[in-house]
Amino acid sequence: MERLRVVGGARLSGTVKVSGAKNSALKLMAATLLAPGKSKITNIPAIADVDFMAELLTRLGCKVEINNVAGEVSIEVPEVIGHRADYDLVRKLRASINVLGPLIARAGSAEVALPGGDAIGTRGLDFHMNGLSDMGAEIKLEHGFIVANTKQRLKGAVITLEFPSVGATENIMTAATLADGITTIENAAREPDVVDLGEFLISMGAKITGLGSHTIKIEGVKKLNSATHATLPDRIVSGTWAFAAAMTKGDITIVNGRADHLEMPLDKLVEAGAVITTVENGFRVKMDKRPTAVDVATLPYPGFPTDLQPMVITLNAIADGTSIVTENVFEGRFMFVNELMRLGAKIQVDGHHAAITGIDQLSAAPVVATDIRAGAGLVLAALVSDGVTIIEDAFHIDRGYPDLPSQLQSLGADVTRV
Ligand code: UD1
Repeated sequence: MERLRVVGGARLSGTVKVSGAKNSALKLMAATLLAPGKSKITNIPAIADVDFMAELLTRLGCKVEINNVAGEVSIEVPEVIGHRADYDLVRKLRASINVLGPLIARAGSAEVALPGGDAIGTRGLDFHMNGLSDMGAEIKLEHGFIVANTKQRLKGAVITLEFPSVGATENIMTAATLADGITTIENAAREPDVVDLGEFLISMGAKITGLGSHTIKIEGVKKLNSATHATLPDRIVSGTWAFAAAMTKGDITIVNGRADHLEMPLDKLVEAGAVITTVENGFRVKMDKRPTAVDVATLPYPGFPTDLQPMVITLNAIADGTSIVTENVFEGRFMFVNELMRLGAKIQVDGHHAAITGIDQLSAAPVVATDIRAGAGLVLAALVSDGVTIIEDAFHIDRGYPDLPSQLQSLGADVTRV
């Protein structure tokens, strides 16, 4: 199993370039299923999940070509597509669930394996299923699969989500593009990834309004066309670099970073003592003192993203003062706290609250990455530990951060794969 070896102590300084967002690129790829012909997604990140999504689309009958040098994937979608997404792929790639909406809309049937739980907690799919059922699909759970069928075109409906789920908003929105009539999603997710997907669908000929707001309206059309779309830059990767600069008393310019997609995390970093400036095509984060502890509660966008929660806990672990971090999106996300405590962090977890008492320095030890963001949080922790930290199961980190070790090295850190 691959490991990362991180020597603590460096002040990270320099420039990093952020590529397309994992959570957008995978959904854009899944959405190409909605139109026959050749679609192209550019600015894709060089990560294994893109290969897994390519494999899934290939099994559904598409011809997929990935060009990692150009950061592009072209997908030729046939007139008649398959309808089954098997467990071996879905378990590796949760975003596989995003083929559900396009398949039911386009093929009239879909069999998508249930992904099961993962290291950040239970992740329900009831909103996805209820939404599609409101649109007339017959949906059941059978032998570990979501089995969806519809004899006619789906029908527009008013769907109110209990929670502004990113995945459910995306599946309902994609399915609704080819439905009969108007679909309204109330309490829709407002994440930039949802907006990016919606804009791609519009370029394919979909009629969508209200992207980025609580209410998205989709007027179904008979047919969509293939299209080309550039993936928006990864806000979670950008945010991770921002925290890395603040924690290592560094100075990092994040090229392609969208400060407007990170208002809450950047406000918290300013509260912690960082100086943030916008530069052409990105932003710069500079810190020259120990951070001050900050209280944070994760919430759907534009709230503080749950995917940056490990980073803010890690910052608080070495900050001046005590803080409370509250996790409101995924209940299992504090699993990584146990790893951070192996590095000496003083944290008490009570339900979905973590109380953190900042200490001067963490102390290097072997730790295990349990998921992508926990892994990135541990890399930041290792950078501010005394000594050498070995992070096991580093493949998790690679899933979200294309070539993190070499980017860290270019900023002055001593990080190698072992
Ligand atoms: C996506 C992101 C993930 C990010 C999350 C929240 C991808 C591949 N993953 O996950 O990185 O952390 O958004 O920004 O894009 N829920 C239900 N029933 C449902 C759907 C969701 O109960 O049918 C619950 C979930 O268990 C969770 C909450 O709603 O507690 C939010 O989940 P959701 O927004 O759907 O997250 P994902 O789309 O899975």
